[in-house]
Amino acid sequence: MLYFLEDVSLLMSLVSCLLLFISCKHFWRKGNLPPGPTPLPILGNYLQLSKGDIVTSLLKLREKYGEVFMVYLGSRPVVVVTGYKAVKEVLVDRGDDFLGRGTVPSLTFLFKDYGVASTSDMEIWRALRRFSVSTMKSFGMGKRSLEDRVEEEARCLVAKLKKTKESLVDPQQYFGKAACNVVFAIMFGNRHDYDDTELLYVIDLVHKTLFLISSRWGQLNEMFPQVMRFIPGRHQNIFVFMKELFHFVEKRVEMNKKTLDKNNPRDYVDAFLIKMETENINPTTEFHMTNLLCSTMQIFFAGVETTGTTLIYALLLFMKYPDITAKVHNEIEKVIGRNRCPKIQDRSQMPFTDAVIHEIQRFIDLIPMGLPRKTTEDITYRGYSIPKHTNVFPMLSSVLKDPVCFPYPNEFNPKNFLDENGEFKKNDAFIPLSAGKRICLGESLVRIELFIFLTTILQNFDLKPSVTPEHLDITPDVSGLGNIPKLFTMAFIPR
Ligand code: HEM
Repeated sequence: MLYFLEDVSLLMSLVSCLLLFISCKHFWRKGNLPPGPTPLPILGNYLQLSKGDIVTSLLKLREKYGEVFMVYLGSRPVVVVTGYKAVKEVLVDRGDDFLGRGTVPSLTFLFKDYGVASTSDMEIWRALRRFSVSTMKSFGMGKRSLEDRVEEEARCLVAKLKKTKESLVDPQQYFGKAACNVVFAIMFGNRHDYDDTELLYVIDLVHKTLFLISSRWGQLNEMFPQVMRFIPGRHQNIFVFMKELFHFVEKRVEMNKKTLDKNNPRDYVDAFLIKMETENINPTTEFHMTNLLCSTMQIFFAGVETTGTTLIYALLLFMKYPDITAKVHNEIEKVIGRNRCPKIQDRSQMPFTDAVIHEIQRFIDLIPMGLPRKTTEDITYRGYSIPKHTNVFPMLSSVLKDPVCFPYPNEFNPKNFLDENGEFKKNDAFIPLSAGKRICLGESLVRIELFIFLTTILQNFDLKPSVTPEHLDITPDVSGLGNIPKLFTMAFIPR
């Protein structure tokens, strides 16, 4: 039996080698592709990218091959685009040519081409995107604005943190839940108490999944998905956790279906179910159950961990740089005071705080490689011929840390967003949420959440680290799809 298996796997390896050789030859022979390191059969450019830190490895290759180059992640060719000018060309100036969604094997195995974040069918994407943006904006359906929801959640967060009575706590336990509750309410109509087991279960799954995808195992899975699928290892949990999350979404959608009142939609899922009914005479509609399940899970997945991690990283930076935090405290005191909740309109009168929040997002560089895109046609770009459906990485990190665009690219320094008079200074290279038509769908929500949560917390608390600021480690624990900070504890001291 063992011999048989060995024979089969040898045969399969030979066949894949041959196929890859043919496909590589075919691909390379087309010529006029961006330069890059020569790939090996099967391994692609694994040897150049094998340090468990794909972001740094890719940015290093730029030194040799220039702003636009090509690597093979296993057998998958990817055009890597770096620096403000080139990334802007791809996302904005030539945006329509690069509007497809590239492959993320850890996610694509489940979503295939379904859902607003995954589809590369431009007509379907446009319809789902338009629907999702307007539905999210209007929730709760004219009754409560996004801002109301975030303010309510910020009040709950403050009340919960007061109960910690200045003891050392893991902030993930509080801020991850607050961010999750906001998205929960938009997608499924209700928030949960912070001790609720369903909330804990979902946050834990989302966090573990993103951590694993960004880890060394996850990076191997991104390069060799066909092989890694069958090899035991920690990455196997990605598939388990993703399926569990999908079952959770299926269950919630089923609950909505049972209690749906067509005249009174409560959330995104209700709105989608109603749209499905009105469209059901159209046999080619994109509003069907698979797109509902995939879009809901994608928005949920994208919205929970990203904002939660940004808030946690913000706390770490506030503690690392107490002088900067003191200035934010002063501005809050001056503009908002202590007797009312912060409002998003306050931001325009708080240039320093605004600059700090921008700088937090720039500095932590949460999604360093962006989400991969795909060419929608055979195109010519910068003199290179790039075939239709080629994966493209717009390296957001290379823009957020571009020395041409920011005076202090590698320091945490709010002056990156302040002019000489201390006024807020906009910067077109500020693209942590990407740019162009396929920019992050949660853009407006993120802006509200970061301002309201962070100002409400600093209005109510002094932040106390468990070690001295010099000993706080602000480097990420893993850096792949996401930059995720190391775990830490801290205390919230009421002001
Ligand atoms: C600080 C928090 C966040 C960051 C840094 C972030 C970053 C990003 C980035 C870089 C993309 C890729 C865009 C592209 O293709 O070029 C993206 C897409 C997306 N984001 Fe966010 N995001 C955040 C929060 C959110 C929130 C709160 C939601 C929803 C509630 C959300 C939902 C999505 C969705 C659905 C997409 C896919 C859009 C599409 O393909 O059309 N994100 N995000």
